[in-house]
Amino acid sequence: MEKEKILEVINVNKLYRNKPVLHDINLFLVKGEILGLVGESGCGKTTLSRCITGLITDYTGEITFNGHPIKQKNLKQIRQNTAHIQMVFQDPYSSLNPKKTIGWILEEGLRVRKQGTSDDRKKRVIEILELVALPIDVISRYPHELSGGQRQRVSIGCALMLNPEIIIADESVSSLDVSIQAQILNLLIKINKELGISIIFISHDLNVVYYLCDRIAVMNGGKIIECNIADKIYNNPQHHYTKSLLDSILI
Ligand SMILES: Nc1ncnc2c1ncn2[C@@H]1O[C@H](COP(=O)(O)OP(=O)(O)O)[C@@H](O)[C@H]1O
Ligand SMILES: [Mg+2]
Repeated sequence: MEKEKILEVINVNKLYRNKPVLHDINLFLVKGEILGLVGESGCGKTTLSRCITGLITDYTGEITFNGHPIKQKNLKQIRQNTAHIQMVFQDPYSSLNPKKTIGWILEEGLRVRKQGTSDDRKKRVIEILELVALPIDVISRYPHELSGGQRQRVSIGCALMLNPEIIIADESVSSLDVSIQAQILNLLIKINKELGISIIFISHDLNVVYYLCDRIAVMNGGKIIECNIADKIYNNPQHHYTKSLLDSILI
């Protein structure tokens, strides 16, 4: 039996000022897996994730979530679809509103979608804080009062608030110290294993991707040049570009 594809990217092309940034991208995500997307800065990783989360819609080709196209015309449908696919950004310092408390920030996704009463939302915030291992008292704190690792936990918490089926973590550990990176990676593993959330993990660091992911897609110049199970990519790369990525790690 074929494994269930929760997400499928089919022949996606995207231009910026007539310059191709994504070139015939074909990719799928199996329900429950962690897929790594690796490649140098500027190769199109963030652009692809913005297409998948519905933030970019002017691409050609198709992206389906559970078999249905995610590209929709009206805002309500876009919000419904995108609630299932949440993004965690690289730099939580710039993605968290500095003027709002962590409690307010965590509630926001539910508030804009008018989900639950104020009490329901507060209960959910407390559940999520427990899940991402943050103390309850961060509710009344501001982003600048937290450490980098704690802010990344808040970002992951924001993504989890809406009960997503897919999380896209875009360079989510790249700006953190190695020991904090490991904690955040373990949190992503816990979310994957305990909640069954499928994850696309984006990084320029093939070592981190290998540690975390079931399969790895290698991107270069807007193309997916190789995609396979993590062990094969790491130990038996087929493409010279993947080999050069590996060589640069070993040095
Ligand atoms: N808003 C934008 N307008 C014009 N060009 C962009 C924009 N965003 C990204 N690009 C270009 O698209 C290419 C891919 O960028 P990006 O998806 O951010 O790569 P990555 O995330 O892999 O570093 C780069 O050449 C970048 O300069
Ligand atoms: Mg990027």
